[in-house]
Amino acid sequence: MNPWEIHPLLVHFPIALLLAATALDVLAIGQRRSDFAWAAAGLLIAGEVSALGTIAAGFLAYFTVPTHSEEAHVRMLIHPVLAGAATLVYALVAVPRWRRRKAIPSRTNIMFSLVAAGLLIASGALGGYLVFHDGVGVEPESRAIDHTHTH
Ligand code: HEM
Repeated sequence: MNPWEIHPLLVHFPIALLLAATALDVLAIGQRRSDFAWAAAGLLIAGEVSALGTIAAGFLAYFTVPTHSEEAHVRMLIHPVLAGAATLVYALVAVPRWRRRKAIPSRTNIMFSLVAAGLLIASGALGGYLVFHDGVGVEPESRAIDHTHTH
């Protein structure tokens, strides 16, 4: 296994846990369900912990993955910035939500959670683009078209 293959192994955890937390928080406020809010607070913490591991593996991938095109290089910078921003905004929700985990989330909590979800989706989509369109991390001999030297 190559070092840049650890990141794709972990990416699903923050995406699934944090997006599920946002969805559950929206349900919690809509249906006044404090049990949903409690579960969402736990998902936020688990999601943030997994995001830290994913970010560490992302840095490892960034510094070890073989050469790529110039366009991919720009995306390889935007992707981590969006991922970092999503993790930071989720942290701004996770900390107060965990402190008052049995309470229904505030409208501000929900607003931050939705913004963070948008950033996370954009970052994940860009990460997928890096692999499936730019071929970052894909073995050169298994590529139909070699993007490495076309730009
Ligand atoms: C919460 C944080 C992050 C999430 C959810 C995330 C998500 C993703 C996803 C979904 C992919 C596509 C994987 C695939 O389909 O095989 C990807 C690829 C990639 N990401 Fe991230 N990422 C995060 C943070 C970072 C950071 C901080 C960096 C760099 C400093 C980074 C660098 C990369 C690189 C280089 C690739 C392409 C090569 C590879 O997967 O090894 N990521 N990311």
